[in-house]
Amino acid sequence: MAIEVIHPIIVKSLLWPDEGATQRFAQTLATAPALRNAFIELRGDLGAGKTTLVRHLLRALGVAGRVKSPTYAVVEPYELPERQLNVWHFDFYRFSDPREWEDAGFRDIFASSGLKLAEWPEKANGFLPRADLIIDLEAVTETSRQVTLKAQTAVGQALLQAVSESPSAPALQGEQDLPKAPP
Ligand SMILES: Nc1ncnc2c1ncn2[C@@H]1O[C@H](COP(=O)(O)OP(=O)(O)O)[C@@H](O)[C@H]1O
Ligand SMILES: [Mg+2]
Repeated sequence: MAIEVIHPIIVKSLLWPDEGATQRFAQTLATAPALRNAFIELRGDLGAGKTTLVRHLLRALGVAGRVKSPTYAVVEPYELPERQLNVWHFDFYRFSDPREWEDAGFRDIFASSGLKLAEWPEKANGFLPRADLIIDLEAVTETSRQVTLKAQTAVGQALLQAVSESPSAPALQGEQDLPKAPP
């Protein structure tokens, strides 16, 4: 019998004045050990910045090539052998046929360890497991974003703590500096 552990939901609000702030958040999040096996939902309207945040996060994790939006493919997988990390970037915007869930192997992906990032999780309601962290983005002006972070599990709380602890760490203040790949 599964033992259900109830975690208090912890909510945190942020304001990102520009895309640089979005990038710095992504760079800080990338340092969180709890990312190794986490499911993060990205919510918000078209143009809110979900894909942009994922791009900055994948870059910070060491993805060197192009980061495509998975709008058409529904999922884009990434392997980061240096970190021994698998990442899956989902966009369920076009997800309509529930059979796709089984046929495309999404169930297996969510059962395996790694980082799963999902845009438009609302469109896969009833299929997705409980997210560890929900990141809700709302455009305030052309460049600023109101952000709500909601941790729903212990993993989510660890992620929230990681992004709350070092908002002004010197290494994160560089303009557009991306972490250098190890030689
Ligand atoms: N602070 C910010 N955070 C994220 N994106 C921003 C920000 N300011 C401006 N943008 C721009 O807003 C757009 C967001 O698009 P996108 O990430 O594709 O949105 P979504 O995936 O939510 O539909 C991009 O053109 C991005 O450059
Ligand atoms: Mg998108």
